[in-house]
Amino acid sequence: MKKLWGGRFEKNTDSLMEDFNSSIGFDKKLYHFDIIGSKAHATMLAKSGIISDKECEEIVDALTEIECEIESGKAEFSTKNEDIHMNIEVLLTNKIGEAGKKLHTARSRNDQVALDLKLYSRDAVINIQELLKQWIKTLIKVAEDNIDTVMPGYTHLQRAQPITLAHHLMAYVEMAKRDYLRLSSWLEIHNTNPLGSGALAGTTFEIDRQYTTELLGFSSPTFNSLDGVSDRDYAIDLLSNASVGMMHLSRLCEELILWSSQEFGFVEIDDAYSTGSSMMPQKKNPDAAELIRGKTGRVYGDLLSLLTTMKSLPLAYNKDMQEDKECLFDGVETWIKCLSIMIPMVSTLKIRKENMHKAACGGYTNATDLADYLVKKGVAFRDAHRITGEIVLDCIYKDKTLDDISLEEYKAYCNLIEEDVYEEISVFTCVSKRNVIGGPSIESVKKHINVISIFLKDI
Ligand code: ARG
Repeated sequence: MKKLWGGRFEKNTDSLMEDFNSSIGFDKKLYHFDIIGSKAHATMLAKSGIISDKECEEIVDALTEIECEIESGKAEFSTKNEDIHMNIEVLLTNKIGEAGKKLHTARSRNDQVALDLKLYSRDAVINIQELLKQWIKTLIKVAEDNIDTVMPGYTHLQRAQPITLAHHLMAYVEMAKRDYLRLSSWLEIHNTNPLGSGALAGTTFEIDRQYTTELLGFSSPTFNSLDGVSDRDYAIDLLSNASVGMMHLSRLCEELILWSSQEFGFVEIDDAYSTGSSMMPQKKNPDAAELIRGKTGRVYGDLLSLLTTMKSLPLAYNKDMQEDKECLFDGVETWIKCLSIMIPMVSTLKIRKENMHKAACGGYTNATDLADYLVKKGVAFRDAHRITGEIVLDCIYKDKTLDDISLEEYKAYCNLIEEDVYEEISVFTCVSKRNVIGGPSIESVKKHINVISIFLKDI
């Protein structure tokens, strides 16, 4: 079989080379975007008088049929036709003959593949934004149910100060909001149309790039044909956004893994998102959370792989760029899958409120509040810090908490301490006094939830 580009060749492609060179095995995923791009191109060619209206209609109708055939598994792709672009063109020409052969007028596979991949990326961005919205709503729901669930906040994974689970989860809402906004800025930067850039230097035909731009919902055409065909920043930015988004998920997953251990006992992950052991009958493992944590590395790899492929490539198109697809698809699909599991896993989480509360009461998480209490009684902070440290050390020896020691014992350290100390250092007071913007008090967190609800309504 002669290749679509076979005119200047005297020999057949080596069969190993044919296999090596072909991308249909993975770029068939682009069929829908290839077809909508081709329909827009044909419509524009007809409007510009380059093909007839009848030819355009034949092409568009046949492309609709081909899309159905691909979806029902009837269409046959071949590595001989290299990639999705040529496979569809061959299917089209087999179906309608002459008119099919005209579709590629004023177009190259270089601007075609740039268009397809950008349409794929834009579609993914819109889907991921929708998932991020659901993710934010899920976190808010659990936060609302746990607005007063006191738990220890940690630094160095050592108990530090009391917070609430709501406050902790709202930190992840802020991260998801930034993930969302990064994708909005992706849309602002990258929603441009490369179709019409040709192989590298545009075309001599009088095409209408504004028209395909409108038909395909882009905000403008790209303004340099070399850049139009060789830009893959949009794929790199998307993978970079995926990497940051996955990093956020991995941090919460790490916490869920720790919290669901018997050592913490803060949460129980629903059976639906856990698995058992083939040998140890008692085991219930947090596999979904571990997989999300693990897949984060894989998405970073996808980003690094594409950055490295693009490094030092001379303008304009080079076949190296065929390597852009598998990592982009993998990174995007992994992020989508992980968000899709994260949402139900977190919304079905069983929260062990008493264990969280107990942990917040241990570990001297109210020591800062005792020092602040002393400062309010007139002690300098540095002295208050030292005195509190000594009291904590004493408590550690006596196996007591700061709430258990008697007033006499307190007074032995500092005469200014009164009965009101117990109220002041109760974990609940510690949380509710932290009423600053962004703090853990019920009031502050409710205000934060309000701000996010307005954000969700506005986007
Ligand atoms: N399959 C190719 C790719 O994915 C399409 C573009 C091929 N262009 C070319 N001049 N060989 O990059």
